[in-house]
Amino acid sequence: MSSQYYVTTPIYYVNGPPHIGHIYTTVVVDVMARYRRLAGEEVYFLTGTDEHGQNIERAAREHGISPQEHADQIVAAYPPLYESLHVTHDDFIRTTEARHAVGVEAIIARIAAAGDLYVGSHDGWYCASCEAYYTEKELAPGNVCPTHETPTEWRSEENLFFRLSKYQDALLRWYDESEAAVRPESRRNEVRSFVEAGLRDLSVSRQGLTWGIPFPDHPGHTVYVWLDALTNYISALGFGHPSHELYDRFWPDGSSEGRRIHVVGKDILRFHAIYWPAFLMSAGLPLPTTVVAHGWWLRDQRKVSKSSGNVVDPGELIEHFGADPLRYFLLREMVFGQDASFSDEAFIDRYNSDLANDLGNTVSRVLTLSRRAFDGCTPPSVGSPALEAAATQAVASYRKCMDDLAFHRALEALWRLLSQANQFLVAREPWKKMKDPSARGEVAETLWNVIEATRIVAGGLVPFMPEKAESVLTALASSVPTSLDDLSWGGTATGAPLPETSPLFPRIDKAAYLADAEQPVIGEAKDTTGPSDSAKKETKPKKAKQKDSGEKKAGGESSVIDIDQFFETELRVANVLEAEAIPKSNKLLKLTVDAGEESPRTVVAGVAKQYQPEELVGKQVVIVFNLKPAKLMGVESNGMVLAASEGDGAVLVRPIEPVKPGTRVR
Ligand code: MSP
Repeated sequence: MSSQYYVTTPIYYVNGPPHIGHIYTTVVVDVMARYRRLAGEEVYFLTGTDEHGQNIERAAREHGISPQEHADQIVAAYPPLYESLHVTHDDFIRTTEARHAVGVEAIIARIAAAGDLYVGSHDGWYCASCEAYYTEKELAPGNVCPTHETPTEWRSEENLFFRLSKYQDALLRWYDESEAAVRPESRRNEVRSFVEAGLRDLSVSRQGLTWGIPFPDHPGHTVYVWLDALTNYISALGFGHPSHELYDRFWPDGSSEGRRIHVVGKDILRFHAIYWPAFLMSAGLPLPTTVVAHGWWLRDQRKVSKSSGNVVDPGELIEHFGADPLRYFLLREMVFGQDASFSDEAFIDRYNSDLANDLGNTVSRVLTLSRRAFDGCTPPSVGSPALEAAATQAVASYRKCMDDLAFHRALEALWRLLSQANQFLVAREPWKKMKDPSARGEVAETLWNVIEATRIVAGGLVPFMPEKAESVLTALASSVPTSLDDLSWGGTATGAPLPETSPLFPRIDKAAYLADAEQPVIGEAKDTTGPSDSAKKETKPKKAKQKDSGEKKAGGESSVIDIDQFFETELRVANVLEAEAIPKSNKLLKLTVDAGEESPRTVVAGVAKQYQPEELVGKQVVIVFNLKPAKLMGVESNGMVLAASEGDGAVLVRPIEPVKPGTRVR
């Protein structure tokens, strides 16, 4: 009888387009789901989007559209992205769907009936990006959020509170009694210590926030985004709905049958391993069996995130290298649970060494030899199963690692087998014996063993690189495994025609690739929302190897500047006295400005496309006062005019009230 395996990704915020960090969790869960299906389990894979809350409201406002329109635009990026990434989710839930609100109302009704809600007041340091309060102890110096590295704000509110503190002991018991409750072990200890230090009741409603689910029976209150969001894991199954077969099947009551697994990034572990089980305990509902936390993708030592401005666009990577190499890289490069760094160099190195060289070359070499020696077919399976023990051991190790969620080690186990197969091939030198009829048996034995070992490697790769693994298997005249049993020794047929194939993993010319300034692999994820879209698209893609400007200084130190560094730049308000076009330039204007000095100075500004000279006369601008003079189109410019620029556009910056010319801007 098959058991149920329910696996979820977090639901992603829609304040920006999906980036590599989001894709990672989805790919991990897809690999888990595919593997469990091969193991014969009944899998249900849920993903979706988290669409309520202040951040989304703000992002929508910035784009001048409604939060729902904004969410719709961001969510539209998911189906094509997931399709191109071969994601096999069973459902995609959006928290703005009516079916979700029903589930949220139902869980709140149960929590209220348990007497776990009360009206209270609360104050503390609040991070709007996390939508959570922090204690002073948890904050970085300057009351900065440890995840977003942005300042928190002091907030006081009167809200509905959930008696989280009541569940402290029950939570501790859960961590102690179930080894699998929170994984890896180090994270379980971390969460345990946090809870042991004492839990405060949790504010679960917000006033003055309209973009959310109205709190039942409490007009003017909106459900706290995390109570709203976490409930997706059961609302998507039909919890609270008249039809709840999926819920009964995958979140079964009073039974330890089946598994319910949430995969999350380490930044949101607290919400999943403390709040969520406490809500469920209060509501009298079963708990997840496991909350698994993974690490972060970093770029230049900082978490890849929209707020850090260092996102890596998965669409571009897929376009350049294909989805499967990206999936492979994500799972192979990151030691599951720890942080890993993303760079073009690392990606290309891994691709060339593991995929083009180890896998691609082994496959193509053994196939060329077999075609030549056996009339375009697989060799007969004669002689000894020389690589069988190695393959059996590799598969056992692969399966154990997959069960332990050690994906990088599962892949290492497959690569060990690949390397053993290669060594076997090289040591037996079949190419030297192919013309010798008396060595035919030996040649067949060598090639068949190598093909069979490679088939097993490709079979194990199916959850990781579904399309490429299938191509390898087709090239080897085999079919895609439908069960883990198909990874046992002996599947390669005798005398099966070997189709001609194009190279599976063409080598990437790293130097040429990195030198090509037009390769936009690492840069801003395309923001498909809002009116500024076209302007954004015009922005020249960054050079692949280029670091984010201003993000780092030599020595790896972060590029924040101190106040003294800022004051080195002297900004001053100036009045434009005269303005004229510069001959032969369609971009530059020559401005004569009064910057509070004895005599006016000349500043050249690149705003001719946006402004007529006469429009600027009498206007105030802000200039960099202490900039070294420079000659532009033959005119000496003493300073620079500040403008907000996006793509080719430039909008001059000025004080919102007139001030005396020469006033310092700081
Ligand atoms: N909406 C909440 C989750 C609610 S689940 C009930 C949220 N959304 S998120 O979009 O900010 O993040 C979603 C997931 O992406 C988290 O697991 C987060 O850890 C992961 N990642 C976002 N950036 C990441 C990296 N740079 N690296 C790896 N994963 C990270 O939190």
